[in-house]
Amino acid sequence: MVVVSNRLPVDYVGGEGGDTRWKGSPGGLVTALEPVMRAADGAWVGWAGVADREFAPFEHDGITIVPVPLSADEVEEYYEGFSNDTLWPLYHDVIAPPRFHREWWEAYVRVNRRFAEAAANAAAEGAVVWVQDYQLQLVPRMLREIRPDLVIGFFNHIPFPAYGIYSQLPWRRQVVDGLLGADVIGFQRAADAGNFSRAVRRLFGYRTRGTVIDVPDGDGGVRHVVARHFPISIDAAAFEQLARRPEVQERARQIRSSLGDPEVVMLGVDRLDYTKGIRHRIKAFGELLRDGRLAVEEATLVQVASPSRERVDTYRQLRDEIELLVGRLNGDHSTLGHAAITYLHHGYPREEMAALYLAADVMLVTALRDGMNLVAKEYVASRYDDDGVLLLSEFTGASDELRQAILVNPHDIEGLKDAMVEAARMPKRERARRMRALRKRVRENDVANWSATFLETLTGAGPIAPGVP
Ligand code: G6P
Repeated sequence: MVVVSNRLPVDYVGGEGGDTRWKGSPGGLVTALEPVMRAADGAWVGWAGVADREFAPFEHDGITIVPVPLSADEVEEYYEGFSNDTLWPLYHDVIAPPRFHREWWEAYVRVNRRFAEAAANAAAEGAVVWVQDYQLQLVPRMLREIRPDLVIGFFNHIPFPAYGIYSQLPWRRQVVDGLLGADVIGFQRAADAGNFSRAVRRLFGYRTRGTVIDVPDGDGGVRHVVARHFPISIDAAAFEQLARRPEVQERARQIRSSLGDPEVVMLGVDRLDYTKGIRHRIKAFGELLRDGRLAVEEATLVQVASPSRERVDTYRQLRDEIELLVGRLNGDHSTLGHAAITYLHHGYPREEMAALYLAADVMLVTALRDGMNLVAKEYVASRYDDDGVLLLSEFTGASDELRQAILVNPHDIEGLKDAMVEAARMPKRERARRMRALRKRVRENDVANWSATFLETLTGAGPIAPGVP
């Protein structure tokens, strides 16, 4: 089996030649696929995250790592440009304006071909190749052309937009055709798969029957391509175990006391991204303090915003706007000893995240659009004590499954404020009832279940798992 993703599951952390150093990045995808990959003599094809460096393939934890090199220009045009300044805003319902540049597209085609060639070289006869995410949408078709013997899957981790938005893309036909090179195309939500099938009908007029698309094979016949949803998840048991560790619980108590032991700790955890609705939640919190519906001695907001894509203009501007907002709000409402907002522009290890989740009475997930939102699931998985309230945007994939959260429309600031107050004042029994149901859901559909369901569908081995909504 071969996995292809923009980023490798290991980060390059320096060194030269024989002394090159790598560090495993323990993301959910890696955890889910590691056992399968080890058993299947797997290879992982991806970029090491640094420009202008070539690395030979090597073994890491029983997996062959195949680094794909990118030049500095390609990082700018394929990764920062086309992936993160064209596709990312377009696929997230144009929350920020997508920028269309022909040179970026050309770099995207060139780099996708390089990934396809690397995957073709790494794959044994008849192997399963699983391509991940929007950075590599042309790889399935390119790979099929080089290696028709392969079984090819694709999973899109982010939303797929409605046709009215998608059709803005000057290369809309090429991208859909690139994806149709796969045997199974996975999406987070049923609505994403529906949007994709509509784009196929509008652009190519191919027949679709439920989740099956009839794609002409060039010889007068058709290939059956499956396009359906497979909601991704987390390693729920690992988060629960982490949260049960005494030192993590001790750390959670320390966090609360360093915040002045307020009655209500609210928490936001996001990559610093304009899709996450960070401004909306800060604005709502500020108005609650201003209007006296919450007092600064009673409630505090901790916002973890991990640095992301810092060379893309839209992300730089967002950082400035959020930091201005946080500064103003703290100036207006903090007192000595009671900060209104604690803003942390850092990423943290999983232990610290679990402690933060345990310390938080209310988790605020107010994304304006999000493929899934794994933070919502991590919070739930960590709350083995059946306490804590999840406030969740209906524009996240997670809201299809996590129905017992308080569901909100983050654009509706009044509604968001009411929901925040409701969450802060929710009686303990009600909190426990909701959290129990949420935890059951996250435990049942964890990331191992997600990858097994996808791979069974891809290899034709099994039905759709009952956990899938
Ligand atoms: C999202 C995408 C991933 C991406 C991640 C971090 O979750 O779906 O493909 O890797 O963001 O973004 P970055 O640009 O740092 O890889």
